[in-house]
Amino acid sequence: MQKVKDFIDTNDFSKEEILNLIELGLSIKKCVKAGYYPQLLKNKVLGMIFQQSSTRTRVAFETAMAQLGGHAQYLAPGQIQMGAHESLADTAKVLSRLVDILMTRAEKHSSIEILAKNASIPLINGMSDYNHPTQELGDGITMFEHKPEGKKIEDCKLVFVGDATQVCASTLFFCTKIGIEFVQFGPKSHHLKEHHIAIAKKNCAISGGKFSLTENMEEALKNADFIYTDVWYGLYETELSYEERMKVFFPKYQVSMDMLKKASPNVKFMHCLPASRGEEVTDEVIDSSKSIVIDEAENRLTAMRSLLVYFMPKSNSNKTEQEEAKIELEKFMKEKNI
Ligand code: CP
Repeated sequence: MQKVKDFIDTNDFSKEEILNLIELGLSIKKCVKAGYYPQLLKNKVLGMIFQQSSTRTRVAFETAMAQLGGHAQYLAPGQIQMGAHESLADTAKVLSRLVDILMTRAEKHSSIEILAKNASIPLINGMSDYNHPTQELGDGITMFEHKPEGKKIEDCKLVFVGDATQVCASTLFFCTKIGIEFVQFGPKSHHLKEHHIAIAKKNCAISGGKFSLTENMEEALKNADFIYTDVWYGLYETELSYEERMKVFFPKYQVSMDMLKKASPNVKFMHCLPASRGEEVTDEVIDSSKSIVIDEAENRLTAMRSLLVYFMPKSNSNKTEQEEAKIELEKFMKEKNI
């Protein structure tokens, strides 16, 4: 059986495919909320390779597999041979015979690419030092659920405050792909890089979206529908100390109630979590009615269900993964009158 595709970077997918993934996730969520668990992953097994710790990504993937009739195996450092006694390529080849689909959270993006290249089954990127596409999808679902009433998603504006983390890059990718206006409001030294900008320009040329990077708070926040932030400590190998990061980002880039007041009156606050309360965001903001961070965390599960159903290899069919999943889900929803 030929694998259809890996999910490593949303830039490899069209706007339509991303919107289809969101729609699929929302349909399954509707079933689950109604108390039905469509067994779309019956007898299927997910191998989850984690090189770093995780709460949301790990639990969401494992829950999604269990709810839809499958099983997930947590493969942590020290528990499998990868990296110690076995190469990434051999690990990918072996696991391809033992499970049906893989997900990986890796320290380096190149590790994900090597695993995907050598796996004969689909691989989903559970975060690397470059991007975090499953977070993007969950956040996209959350934005659809919380966008201002009557406003099209393409007419919304998102401001990412702070550091150019992999979540910031992924948010840029998602917004420019869909056509949502994206602004990074952060210190110039920590703005997104040329290679991110090149991708954003390409996406905007197709979607009609726009993006900018600025240190000007008033200009950035004007009419913002969503304010998003992430931690300031940076990536594992280049982590800043508490003193260093406070010097770079505090107080200008801390999301406070005063900052929210400069945006649209209906602005929503987003964070991928975990948060360093008192650094990039105040308790008052993250615990306020403006905050949709817990919905974002829940929608990691919505995203994982969709991705697993979409990318799970199906046997003996000429139909695409998307068509198969849609037919099966529609049949289930009709039977259950959902
Ligand atoms: N947002 C996110 O990926 O959370 P975890 O690191 O807990 O998986």
